[in-house]
Amino acid sequence: MTRTVYVNGNYVPEDQATISVFDRGFLFADAVYEVTSVLDGKLIDFDGHGQRLARSLGELNMAMPEADLLEIHRELVARNNVTEGLVYLQVSRGAADRDFQYPVDTPPTLVMFTQSKALIDSPAAKSGIKVIAIDDLRWARRDIKTVQLLYPSMGKMMAKAAGVDDAWMVEDGLVTEGTSNNAYIVKNGKIITRQLGQDILAGITRNAVLKMAREAQMEIEERAFSIREAQDADEAFYTSASAFVMPVVEVDGATVGAGVPGPVSQRLREIYIDESRRVAV
Ligand code: PDD
Repeated sequence: MTRTVYVNGNYVPEDQATISVFDRGFLFADAVYEVTSVLDGKLIDFDGHGQRLARSLGELNMAMPEADLLEIHRELVARNNVTEGLVYLQVSRGAADRDFQYPVDTPPTLVMFTQSKALIDSPAAKSGIKVIAIDDLRWARRDIKTVQLLYPSMGKMMAKAAGVDDAWMVEDGLVTEGTSNNAYIVKNGKIITRQLGQDILAGITRNAVLKMAREAQMEIEERAFSIREAQDADEAFYTSASAFVMPVVEVDGATVGAGVPGPVSQRLREIYIDESRRVAV
């Protein structure tokens, strides 16, 4: 089935959607994005993603698109009959003759599309996944959700070549985050995850999961940890909009805990899914 996608004010069949070859997202990765999950045809944490989008745009001196983003999300979900999956949104600085300086008054390019995908019934969540450690060679403003995803993409390929699922990136001996997710360990019942800063993305799922964990009286410590500490932890997991809470059972060749999804990770996944479903819009 041909999807309907959104490009600059129009809903069009995906094979008829076009943007300029001069688009700065294409030429300079001068664009930011968001991925919002859909459960039961409803959007998870739409407001959180909207706020982070505004922040990313602000950091790059780009204006927030004037379009009604919630309405477009809903329209795309409806037109494409998405019950479970994702909505991808990208805003670039628009099309302008190639120049390193930002163009003035160029209308932004706004592109959105859906992906139908089973999120809840995930074999990986049942077995847990394996990660390798790789150096974090990304730029230093990872708090801005830009479309510069080549290094994370290389990281996924390194993981694939190593026969595992994903990679956790390490800088100065400490884990920053996963290629497209935030990383956590659990030790003696305490949830440990890196503090926010310019070196990681402030995950919307991270924010929600930590809030829910606090409400469930779980202990949380926001600080960086090493690969060795992760290998010695009782549990490990990661979070992202598309994976929710994903148990990690092997870190760089060493089995974590019992080698199966641990109780804290499983409980957080359940709480997150239940609560997200309840407040989805
Ligand atoms: N990735 N860290 C990085 C580097 C990410 O790319 C992502 C999200 C996250 C988690 O953020 P959130 O919980 O808001 O999804 C952390 C998205 C899902 C992606 O690129 O597909």
